This record gives sequence, C-alpha cells and structure tokens, in this order.
Amino acid sequence: MSDIILETKGLTKHYGGVQALNDANFVLRKGEHVAIMGDNGAGKSTFVRQITGVETRTRGTVIFQGNEVNFAGPLDAREAGIETVFQTLALADDLNVPDNLFLGREITKFNFLGPFRILNYKAMREATLAGLEKTGVKIPTIKNTIANMSGGQRQCVAIARTATFASKLTIMDEPTAALGVQETAQVENIVRTLKEQGESLILVSHNMRQVFDLVDRIVVFRRGRMVADLKVGETDGQDVVAYITGAKTGAQFEGAA
Ligand SMILES: Nc1ncnc2c1ncn2[C@@H]1O[C@H](COP(=O)(O)OP(=O)(O)O)[C@@H](O)[C@H]1O
Ligand SMILES: [Mg+2]
Repeated sequence: MSDIILETKGLTKHYGGVQALNDANFVLRKGEHVAIMGDNGAGKSTFVRQITGVETRTRGTVIFQGNEVNFAGPLDAREAGIETVFQTLALADDLNVPDNLFLGREITKFNFLGPFRILNYKAMREATLAGLEKTGVKIPTIKNTIANMSGGQRQCVAIARTATFASKLTIMDEPTAALGVQETAQVENIVRTLKEQGESLILVSHNMRQVFDLVDRIVVFRRGRMVADLKVGETDGQDVVAYITGAKTGAQFEGAA
C-alpha cells in the first residue's frame, strides 16, 4: 500500500480567460498536515474546489487512496471520507445547526418502514453540542438557523462538522480568517487533535505563526501555480514570504513564476 492519501496531477482550472489554477502536482501522505499559502487570488480556493468536485475542472487528475476520483460535489467527497471547510461556507442558510452538521448523513433510528427513514433528532442534537464544545464557540441556541449567525459562528459550525465525524482527509480553507483569538485557538486545538489521530490535513492559511505551529510542510501557490514545497524545519517565514511575493522561485519549479 502506498502511503500517499491524495495526489493531484496536472490539476488545472480556467474560468474563461482566467487561469486560476495551472498544472498543480500535489502529494499528501497519510497523517501529514500540509499548509497551502499564497496571496489573494493565487488559486488556493480554486485548488480546493477542484479536489472536492465543486466545479468541473479544466483538466488533470485527482487520486484519493490510490483511486482516481471525480467527485460530483462536496457531499460526494464527504461520503468518500474528505471533510471540507470551504472559505465561502457550504452551509444551508435556512437549516439549524444540527441539520447543517448532519446534512447528507442524518442519524436514523431503526428502520422498520422500508424506504422511510426516521431521523434520530436527539442523537444529532447531542452530537452537535459535543462538536461545538470542541470548537469552544458560544452559540445561544443550536435551534437558530445559520442565516441568523455571525461569520465566526458559521465558521465554527462548519469546523465542528470536521471535529464530529471521523474522516480520512480534512481540508480547511482559511478556517480562522473570520474568528477571534479564543475561537482561533480552539480551531488550532482541533487541528492538533486531528494530527494526533493520524488524520491527513490540508490547511489553507495566511497566518504564518499558525502554519509554522501546526503543519509539517508548506506549499506555496502564486498566480495559479505551485511555486514551492517546503518542509517546515527547513524554511522560515521570510523564505515563505519570498515565494509568496515572487522574490524567490524554486529550482524544482523552474519557470513557474
Ligand atoms: N467562479 C469564478 N469565476 C471567475 N474567476 C474566478 C472564479 N473563482 C475564482 N476566480 C479567479 O481565480 C483566481 C484564483 O482565485 P482563488 O482560487 O479564489 O484564489 P485564493 O483562494 O488563492 O485567494 C482569481 O483571479 C479569481 O478572481
Ligand atoms: Mg481563497
């Protein structure tokens, strides 16, 4: 068995004339935590969306657990074991917190009516409270629909989802950008827990301190291309910034900038 959990080959996405992502060859090993950094518009979110099948990619291959995959969307990817927190949140505005957490995988009671499912609301409520507890977010009542929540609260609901369900790969796209200091610390604790549990993670982040605290490797995107792949122990913030701004280009990515 290969120790690679996710691989992309030549992953490319063009929006009309906008070359948002070009030829991303990316490898993630089992249990590894990798950060993706880069300026606004570098293609980080586009990369995440192509993996999870939010859009149809222009070209390229995604290999998950040794098999080529073409997810129809985030729910499809989630069923395969990829839990994603999108930068623009994929939450259903008119559903409450438990319904959002369990969207696509509701807990059912004993199913004696054939095709009809009886949802176990009590179990879902309890799991929701446990998940939120891990993020440390204070939500007055989980019966509130998402539409009535602040950006930070919404983000925490999405992150609680990743902390509630065991998955094989977690992808977080700027999960703490809208959060306060305390909530950010809680999210970072969730990431550490995922590391201890051996779960693989892709963390898109602008926060240099957070990245150096949490991950094993940093991949830098610039203008739609992967321009650096750096082990945390062999680089520093200044080096990473040089790749982000284009002051430095990697030998192995010659011609990339
Ligand atoms: N749906 C879209 N239609 C057209 N252009 C898009 C779309 N989504 C992203 N882009 C463009 O693709 C580029 C990369 O965007 P994005 O992946 O969001 O960057 P990042 O997440 O690194 O800030 C940007 O130039 C952005 O304007
Ligand atoms: Mg983005």
